[in-house]
Amino acid sequence: MNFSDIAGEYERLASLQRSAGERLLSLLRIARDEDVLDLGCGTGGLTRRIRKLTAGRVVGVDPSPAMLERAVEESRGQEIAYELKSAEELDFAGCFDVIVCNSAFQWFREPEKAVGNCFRALRRGGRLGMQAPAKRAYCPSFIEAIERVRRDRRTSSTFSRFREPWFFLESAAEYKRLFESAGFKVRLSRIECTTTEHTPEEVFKIFSSGAIAGYLNPACYDVELTEEYVSAFRQVVRRSFEEQADERGLVRLRFHRIFLLAVKA
Ligand SMILES: C[S@@+](CC[C@H](N)C(=O)[O-])C[C@H]1O[C@@H](n2cnc3c(N)ncnc32)[C@H](O)[C@@H]1O
Repeated sequence: MNFSDIAGEYERLASLQRSAGERLLSLLRIARDEDVLDLGCGTGGLTRRIRKLTAGRVVGVDPSPAMLERAVEESRGQEIAYELKSAEELDFAGCFDVIVCNSAFQWFREPEKAVGNCFRALRRGGRLGMQAPAKRAYCPSFIEAIERVRRDRRTSSTFSRFREPWFFLESAAEYKRLFESAGFKVRLSRIECTTTEHTPEEVFKIFSSGAIAGYLNPACYDVELTEEYVSAFRQVVRRSFEEQADERGLVRLRFHRIFLLAVKA
């Protein structure tokens, strides 16, 4: 399980990424003539929103072939260029006014290198807006479900061989420093905690729109994943979300998210 496996379902499941992306766009205020790079664009939902905001060049970059294939399909006739590469491989120099990076930064393998590449890709005066889950306890409901997986006798042994693929920092000041060390002036760095309410089934769908691409990714384990493990993992997680529901049948889903705005002054 990785982004290739969820590409087909992503747009339908990714409601939280979408609303956070809208907030990021409102912070960035993209002008009609600006050239924009959407970094970690996934299936291109936000890239198409960006296309409507500017008459300039719009480029989407993502390392997942299936996510990008979907983006290309859904964006036919819309003058968006897509490139299959990671943030670490980004090789643009001085050609964008804005970089948008929504719900992707936590997946970057080498964040310092990626931030340096973003700095190079921007023109002087260009700006970058980034939104991503922040803090190791980025979503307490997910962490609680994963604690169950860690303890359940059907999953504990295999899960002990799981290594998290994500990059999280604990404070807005640490994110700020990371971008400053690449040369950026950071205009805003804030970790916000949002709470939304959902049925356990909806929470499972939200979990399946991103987190599951790490938790059930064979590359994050040093043992083979069996069908039994994957099925038990899903059951334990679903069960935990059911048990987290209140008397109305709703789970209060809290998410810590970093919103960062940086300028290449
Ligand atoms: C949760 S999706 C977000 C997609 C889109 N930005 C959105 O707002 O819906 C995360 C994306 O980050 C991409 N990603 C993972 N590692 C990356 C890297 N090193 N560089 C750039 N993108 C990466 C994944 O392939 C995936 O498409």
